[in-house]
Amino acid sequence: MTHTESAWAKINLTLDILGKRPDGYHEMKMVMQSIDLCDDLELSEREAPGTAVSSTLPYLPRDGGNIAAKAAEAFFAHLGRPAPGLDIHIRKQIPVCAGMAGGSSDAAAVLRLLRRHYAPSMPEEELEAVAAQVGSDVPYCVRGGTALARGRGEILTDLPPLPACYFAVCKPTFPISTPELFAQVRTRRLHCHPDTAGMISALEQGDLEGVAHRLYNVFEDVLPRKYAQVFEIKRSLLDLGAIAASMTGSGPTVFGLFRDEENARQAADALKAHFPAAFFCKNVGRAV
Ligand code: C5P
Repeated sequence: MTHTESAWAKINLTLDILGKRPDGYHEMKMVMQSIDLCDDLELSEREAPGTAVSSTLPYLPRDGGNIAAKAAEAFFAHLGRPAPGLDIHIRKQIPVCAGMAGGSSDAAAVLRLLRRHYAPSMPEEELEAVAAQVGSDVPYCVRGGTALARGRGEILTDLPPLPACYFAVCKPTFPISTPELFAQVRTRRLHCHPDTAGMISALEQGDLEGVAHRLYNVFEDVLPRKYAQVFEIKRSLLDLGAIAASMTGSGPTVFGLFRDEENARQAADALKAHFPAAFFCKNVGRAV
């Protein structure tokens, strides 16, 4: 029997880096939002032992090197029982190395599926603790919706949903590696920070203008010059009618926030003429 699950991408409404931790990770404060761009996962048991991963992108790892397989391994290790043989197939639509948590969301979808079928009474916090072993963004991806993420990214607080709005999302032609960009960060040299408290109160008040004007990602301030296309796409999104635009995660994907659905669709279409990975998106609520 094959089980299916959607793995939603995320964007950062804010991303702040508070400092470097003794464990080598960075202390984060981020307002995260799921969007309706998703990978589709299929999971089935098989006779042969181990987890095999296949996907529509031939260069993704096919075995234990794939974060989706790591999630399955961590789940059964946590349950203290041998893992059954598993086949995972991923229809990739979320761009890779793009700042939209594509891999983390695949891992999170695997964890949601495995809980549903092997441990339905496992509390959500327990599943998120397993997710934290797999990657910093995986606990948020298990939950989805609008949330504040702190610590490495694994300390989560639900936030009120975004007021009605639409996104045009566009990935430049190059990827960015998350560890590479974290290596650029010298936290004492980050002089500007997002108004996270203001973002949260704008969400509480359903104030779309307030949300739009507080989009801020400190990674933009340490972006090497070779990635300047990020700022060109931001400019294009504003010219195309976005209220505001920002990079998501460690980039390079940029999103524009629009009040009007048709305007966002047209902006995504206009960008698609130059960039293959351009999408019209809506926000989505919690996955669990
Ligand atoms: O947790 P995850 O494996 O997704 O993190 C990938 C890399 O990103 C880490 O090895 C680290 O270099 C960096 N990172 C960080 N601080 C975080 C999250 C990730 O420095 N809070």
